Amino acid sequence: MKLVVGADHGGYRAKERLVRALMAAGHHVTDVGTIDESSVDYPDFAVRVGRAVAGKKADRGVLLCGTGIGMAIAANKIRGVRAAVVWNKKTAALAAEHNDANVLCLGARILSSSSIVALVKAWLAAPFGGDRHVRRINKIRALERGNR
Ligand code: RB5
Repeated sequence: MKLVVGADHGGYRAKERLVRALMAAGHHVTDVGTIDESSVDYPDFAVRVGRAVAGKKADRGVLLCGTGIGMAIAANKIRGVRAAVVWNKKTAALAAEHNDANVLCLGARILSSSSIVALVKAWLAAPFGGDRHVRRINKIRALERGNR
């Protein structure tokens, strides 16, 4: 899969480990930064990942910050992005199965780096459930168009 990964300073170390793990698993990974633990602003990385996914330059994106929350708030401002904060394997899998989340946001100050790798893999492996979930996602798309 073509993946794009970004982090702020809070997620930098976890990102480095995640990128290595995803490449080792055979994915094509674009790392949009940040490049070290100097303080940066998470929306700057959310927009890089969100635009790559919304613009179909990547199949899916992963964003890491302290909690995952700021990244999700920012990424969800981009039309076409469905960013989900997840915290265990169940929420990671359901973000794919029910919400067809195309960006995963994780808290590197909440989860260990090894958990983050495991959750991202669980999300990538889970199929979208289709059926009633398509109808619900179409209602989200209508919201984006200002039609609801
Ligand atoms: C940065 O200190 C922190 O606010 C950020 O990583 C993230 O947790 C925001 O949601």
